[in-house]
Amino acid sequence: MSRISISGAFAPFKNSGTLPSSLAASRRSSSIILGAVCQNPRLRLSSHRLPAVTSTRANSSIPERPFRETPMVAKNALEPFVDFDIEEHKDQYVSLRKAPDGPIGLYGKFWLRENCQCSKCIHPDTRQRIVDTFSIPKNIRTGKVEYVEDGVELQWSDGHRGFYPFSWLGFHANGKKKPMEPHMMAIRFHKHHDPSSPFPPAVSYTNVMSDDRALWRWLEAIQVYGFCFVQGVPVDPESTKSLLERIAFIRHTHYGGFWDFTSDLTFKDTAYTTEGLGAHTDNTYFTDPARLQLFHLLSHTDGDGGASLLVDGFHAAKLLFVKNREYFHTLAEIPQPFHASGNEDTSIQPAAQAPVFGLHPQHQRLFQIRWNNYDRAAKTDWNMAEQIKWYEAARAFNDIIHRQQLQLWTQLEPGTALIFDNWRMLHGRSEFTGKRRMCGGYINNDDFLSKYRLLEFGRQKVLDNLGNNTPLSYNPNFRY
Ligand SMILES: [Fe+2]
Ligand SMILES: [Zn+2]
Repeated sequence: MSRISISGAFAPFKNSGTLPSSLAASRRSSSIILGAVCQNPRLRLSSHRLPAVTSTRANSSIPERPFRETPMVAKNALEPFVDFDIEEHKDQYVSLRKAPDGPIGLYGKFWLRENCQCSKCIHPDTRQRIVDTFSIPKNIRTGKVEYVEDGVELQWSDGHRGFYPFSWLGFHANGKKKPMEPHMMAIRFHKHHDPSSPFPPAVSYTNVMSDDRALWRWLEAIQVYGFCFVQGVPVDPESTKSLLERIAFIRHTHYGGFWDFTSDLTFKDTAYTTEGLGAHTDNTYFTDPARLQLFHLLSHTDGDGGASLLVDGFHAAKLLFVKNREYFHTLAEIPQPFHASGNEDTSIQPAAQAPVFGLHPQHQRLFQIRWNNYDRAAKTDWNMAEQIKWYEAARAFNDIIHRQQLQLWTQLEPGTALIFDNWRMLHGRSEFTGKRRMCGGYINNDDFLSKYRLLEFGRQKVLDNLGNNTPLSYNPNFRY
């Protein structure tokens, strides 16, 4: 398990029977393999030392982009005017212009009345619905429509005068949904950081702590590449905690909230030992696995080793998809049981079994990987054919994540924190000697996405799109 993979311990991949070759090499000559004379190029850690941060633009691999402070707003009408082109269709739909001279959208009639955006129907501060849906007459009818400066006023047959901003109408028109091609959508488009690049995404602690634009760049790097280093972190737990809290509150689990630990098996989990850990995701045993995980090595004395491993699981899944679509769908369709039962007072198991590849239920895109051979329980609810199929597909995926060119090895040092997307990146570490002190924590998916979308799109655009599930890039809800 995993929670602390970088400091903890390692259990070799017993089930697969093979260690990553780099890990195997490190086991053969563990005391020197991580030094400067390492013969294994994957472990020549100096090649992955991080560049110095000299400006707010921490790293050339993170594209500099202007901070979007103001969201797009709908074009205002030049002149308010009255339009009678509202039409009712079979008594259910209404067609309405999304601006005085704009395109026409289709809206369900009862839906449009229920989702009136006026301050009597939606609380202006909390954005919660306050209209009593079921007091609206079932056969509600529309009356006069009037285009005002920033939206549409609509007279309803129950006497209510509704209001709908143009931007809101634009983002919420019904009836244009195209059926999704599941196989076309299965792989989320993403940028993949090539582990051989000497410039992994990195930001500066000082900037992130003091500037929302730097915070935005940090979250954008995590979203785009799946991970990011933070340089110049004061070597103490308090500063590391503050760094995490720039994103959101820290998630508590049965391991506690913010962790600060040494390899002493405080918790009965391989993560708390000194052994190597193969690439895995954490929290496969939770119904809602933590989204982000941050590690900061505070000290490592009287020994060496403990290099950190990252593998881009989405990229690996894409390679599997290209190699054999059947394998991809097998790992997306056959759910597995997981558990965390190392301590006397816990045996955590999710409410439902989950597949290795979680596809978004509406968009059919890969959006979550659960890969933890340590925590997978013995599944019973499958037949022999399914077992054979699943193990074959899992073996093929395991082979891909062990390819050297997919593995990013870095030696963490005090002052440099690593954060990664636990729904995408697999992480691990090589074994180590001596005493390490590591701190860090988890952040929930929903809290990360909230902060990320607000910084990326601006609050108004996020609010304009509440409920919009259209799979197009303009939609903040299509970033996850
Ligand atoms: Fe872990
Ligand atoms: Zn209203």
